[in-house]
Amino acid sequence: MFSKLKLITGNANKPLAEEVARFAGIPLADIELFKFSNDESFVKINDNVRGADVFVIQPTSYPVNDSLMDLLIIIDALKRASAQRINCVIPYYAYARSDKKDQPRVPITAKLVADLITIAGAHRVITVDLHAEQIQGFFNIPVDHLFTIPIFARYFKSTFKLEDTVVVSPDSGGANRARALAKRLECNLAIGDKRRTGNNDSAECLNIIGDVAGKTAILFDDIIDTGGSLIKVSRELVNRGASKIFAACSHGILSGAAVQNLEKSPIEKLFITNTIQLSEKAQKCDKVVQLSIAEMLAIAIKKIHIEESISILFR
Ligand code: R5P
Repeated sequence: MFSKLKLITGNANKPLAEEVARFAGIPLADIELFKFSNDESFVKINDNVRGADVFVIQPTSYPVNDSLMDLLIIIDALKRASAQRINCVIPYYAYARSDKKDQPRVPITAKLVADLITIAGAHRVITVDLHAEQIQGFFNIPVDHLFTIPIFARYFKSTFKLEDTVVVSPDSGGANRARALAKRLECNLAIGDKRRTGNNDSAECLNIIGDVAGKTAILFDDIIDTGGSLIKVSRELVNRGASKIFAACSHGILSGAAVQNLEKSPIEKLFITNTIQLSEKAQKCDKVVQLSIAEMLAIAIKKIHIEESISILFR
């Protein structure tokens, strides 16, 4: 059993870390994190962490490479300060979409990031809705993979009339995820035949498999980045007679013109979690509704600290 539980945050999502700390009833440790004028990051942990069970909350979100580097530097500082166990809470795991060598001479950056985190000195990773479950296997340390589906399902059940609702995966890759939500909401599933013709915003929706006419469609995906995928599929849903369209995503990256494009799209509301701190533009957008994962993370942290099962979080 570990004696002291400590919570530390980097700069990537302080509001989430503060909310987790409130739910857990534990203050955030005192940490200084700044950049020298040459762009190098520096970290100093002002609290004693000797022998402590430390949880570092840092999604690797925008600015992605700074957030990742800060996480690595915090791990290194904790290791050299004799923390007993370093648990990295990474609600959004960047580079997860680079998870296979599917073209000649491309990297598997999700594996490289796993190696960096492990070599820096992490003992455990706690993450949320990985783009591909097999990324857990890129680590040789324990990975607790949490899901937002129970949070979305509870929200939709309490705020929506779910008759005539269909959950839609924008592509075949997300079908299992969408099926799991559809099962909890006791509604049907449809799948978009989304193809990418290049990078980022060049998605096309060629077909929708399943009946959506006259129904409320909930598009469900792990990531909304440029918004290209969801918006293209939402237009095809309109063509096929869907009566209302909502979207739900775990990770709201919302890069580039995503928010402006969302405003003009047939999507009435976009439900996202707070794994990633929203930009000001996204916070001001009436279509964006954020659901919090803070309580789930706080429960996970407290249970992991006392070495109890976390399976209650999957119900
Ligand atoms: C792709 O497989 C992912 O699950 C998301 O559908 C994709 O990354 C979303 O990106 P964007 O919003 O740029 O289309």
